[in-house]
Amino acid sequence: MKKNVFILLLLVSITIQAQKFKGLAETPPLGWNSWNTFGTDINEQLVKDIADKFVELGLKDAGYEYIVLDDGWMAKERDANGNLIADPEKFPSGMKALAAYVHSKGLKFGLYNCAGSTTCAGYPGSRGYEYQDARSYASWDVDYLKYDWCNTEKLNAEGSYITMRDALKSAGRPMVFSICEWGDNEPWKWAKDVGHLWRVTGDIINCWDCEVGHGSWSSWGVWKIINMRKDIRKIAGPGHWNDFDMMEVGNGMTEAEDRSHFAMWSMLASPLIMGNDLRAASKETIKTLTNKEVIEINQDKLGIQGFRFSNENNLEIWLKPLNNNAWAMVFVNMKDVATTINFDWNKHDIADDVNAKHLNQKKHTYKIRDLFNQINLGNTKSNLKAKIESHDVLMIKLENLQLTSQ
Ligand code: GAL
Repeated sequence: MKKNVFILLLLVSITIQAQKFKGLAETPPLGWNSWNTFGTDINEQLVKDIADKFVELGLKDAGYEYIVLDDGWMAKERDANGNLIADPEKFPSGMKALAAYVHSKGLKFGLYNCAGSTTCAGYPGSRGYEYQDARSYASWDVDYLKYDWCNTEKLNAEGSYITMRDALKSAGRPMVFSICEWGDNEPWKWAKDVGHLWRVTGDIINCWDCEVGHGSWSSWGVWKIINMRKDIRKIAGPGHWNDFDMMEVGNGMTEAEDRSHFAMWSMLASPLIMGNDLRAASKETIKTLTNKEVIEINQDKLGIQGFRFSNENNLEIWLKPLNNNAWAMVFVNMKDVATTINFDWNKHDIADDVNAKHLNQKKHTYKIRDLFNQINLGNTKSNLKAKIESHDVLMIKLENLQLTSQ
């Protein structure tokens, strides 16, 4: 009898261990990460400044929450007990104090490490130290871990990420677990119960549609990333997101391109992780990043990843079903010159078969709201006409108040 009870308890505890933290990232995480702008050139003051900017610039108010330090925060060696330590020059007060600063602003704090023996930039990786590192993060009050895939030799990806998930779980502090193996091992097929988000491609770069080669790997422009992984939408949902990478808004593309990039990441229900220097951001950049009506589309509680409806004559049209039978829709002008649209609602059948959603615009009238200009554009009884500048976007929300409870 005693033996049976023991076995039962053991099984229960194994089942409890073998899960990611539930109830986190129920909508795509919103935040900032140091990598796209700063690489390993990061320090304590930068993080404090960014936390201050979250509040000052209305980013916190718009919903941004996580401040994540990417590669380069650690000392080059572990201490004598094998513990990770923060680089004492860059982070003299240590990570616990920094997390406390971020928390004092009502925000959350994230760190980076890697499943391999060293990180991509050559700092100590977690291979063989997973449980010890997870305990360090928990003791520093970390809320989010981005976990990379460099120097992993022949490790099995699913197994390695499960080990880290279990290590985090056993350390006991709820942390969002952000998987970063670049889509190489198709995490959308196995990571739903392992992490809360997973990168779907190699690294983003600040261009519209370019590929920049670095020998054995490439960085990808916004549309390269979108086109590479347009067919994996089914798996995204509350608590488990396809991560299209940290944003390049404010990092050198045109304002129109930044808007389109932001609109698309919102349509794709991708995490919205800013990657620009918030201390030097232009008004226009902040206006884009804090657009609450666009962020609302990203944060819609159904968590459905949008899909391409059509792509003709260099006009991309994307749709995303929303809560309350509403829809988001974007028209992106891919041309190098301005274009006009004249969209006849009666000529189109708009449906999302995967999620059994149908825009019934022939039977019901939907109000149209322009989300970037924040104006109403009439309704679906008449054609939608607009001029869209080169690489710019018209992003609308379609809503019928009578359908809200259906
Ligand atoms: C890459 C990762 C980037 C960044 C970098 C740090 O593998 O995709 O987002 O984290 O490593 O070295």
